[in-house]
Amino acid sequence: MSGSLLPSIVEDYRVLARKRLPRQLFEFIDGGSFAEETVAANRTDFARLRLRQRVLRPVGEVDLSTTVLGERWSLPIGLGPVGLAGLTRRRGELQALRAAQSAGTQFCLSTVALCSLEEVAAQSRQPFWFQLYIMRDRGFARELIGRAKAAGCRALVLTVDLAVAGLRHRDVQTGMTGGLDWVGRARVAADYARRWAWLWDVGVQGRPHLFGNLLSAVPNARRLSDFYQFTRANWDPSVSWADIDWIRSEWGGPLVIKGILDAEDATQAVKAGAQALIVSNHGGRQLDGVGSTISSLPAVVQAVGSDAEVLLDGGVRNGIDVLRALALGAKACLVGRPWIYALAARGEQGVAGLLATYRRELEISLALAGLTRIADVDRNALVQGTTR
Ligand SMILES: Cc1cc2nc3c(=O)[nH]c(=O)nc-3n(C[C@H](O)[C@H](O)[C@H](O)COP(=O)(O)O)c2cc1C
Repeated sequence: MSGSLLPSIVEDYRVLARKRLPRQLFEFIDGGSFAEETVAANRTDFARLRLRQRVLRPVGEVDLSTTVLGERWSLPIGLGPVGLAGLTRRRGELQALRAAQSAGTQFCLSTVALCSLEEVAAQSRQPFWFQLYIMRDRGFARELIGRAKAAGCRALVLTVDLAVAGLRHRDVQTGMTGGLDWVGRARVAADYARRWAWLWDVGVQGRPHLFGNLLSAVPNARRLSDFYQFTRANWDPSVSWADIDWIRSEWGGPLVIKGILDAEDATQAVKAGAQALIVSNHGGRQLDGVGSTISSLPAVVQAVGSDAEVLLDGGVRNGIDVLRALALGAKACLVGRPWIYALAARGEQGVAGLLATYRRELEISLALAGLTRIADVDRNALVQGTTR
């Protein structure tokens, strides 16, 4: 696809995304925080887990379907919330939603998506998930929860690992977070101007470039930068466990807490009423130097037992990684960058291709591990001694 022989479809889409997107956007997606140690660990720790090759077992019929929060998924991989997806492809959130639903899996819309809850609901064939960041203005948070209910969302995903934004040096260097002098700004503008395919698709046809979910809070906004004052003033570092109660009662449906890495937090999240947790370090974009998600998973699974479902995201780059996470107790995995690279590279078709590849990889690896059903995957699928 990209012309070179790369070992994974995700890497292939990444190369295509890098060619197509303005540099500032690509680096925003691709990067992590500080020295990006956790971004790397999310990947390398998967590779430490060795699978057991099992032979002479009948594996003619492999079934990848599973249930997550009572929903049937045709494979244990969903699309996690990614802000600004609509800046990578024309109304990108809608394209990703369609690809996920056609594949029989779930899509989670970010608070800071371009497409609003209502725009997505109008195109959705079934209930999708909504990710919420709690803002200082609790009235606005209530409004968002109400809109998610009205849009028929199935689960509310509360992201809790962004009390303050991680320091992302790439975004400082590219001017994504502002602060460039006029020479820097001219360079950035020149780079945007030469991305013809992107300009036509997103710049022209993909309007409006607004945070659809935040528009009612900033009704006069004409461009994305008009929201920055609101988000800066409303980001709330004081959100605490005490807030979960009112969020849960406002919402009334399945509550998922995203951004759990620590067993004590996991226990508290279950006590607070979460039906599912997402073991996540925000793709290595928040506190650098924390454990990878796959290395943090076993302690979280042990802490929650059967009181909540545990999902995982971060570094899941192929079906084998999914098998490894399931073996350590995850109910399913979510992906972030992989789907945004695929979307940027090839739109809806790209995301569909990504999910089809994950499906095929998982099907094959399950069969070669001597298994045929997701429910049968457990620690026995891994070589003991490689799981710590
Ligand atoms: C560009 C980008 C934007 C993101 N935006 C959000 C967001 O709006 N809300 C959220 O909860 N997580 C967000 N995340 C984190 C992802 O949901 C997910 O935790 C992470 O990407 C998983 O790691 P992976 O990229 O290695 O799959 C974002 C991640 C990226 C790369």
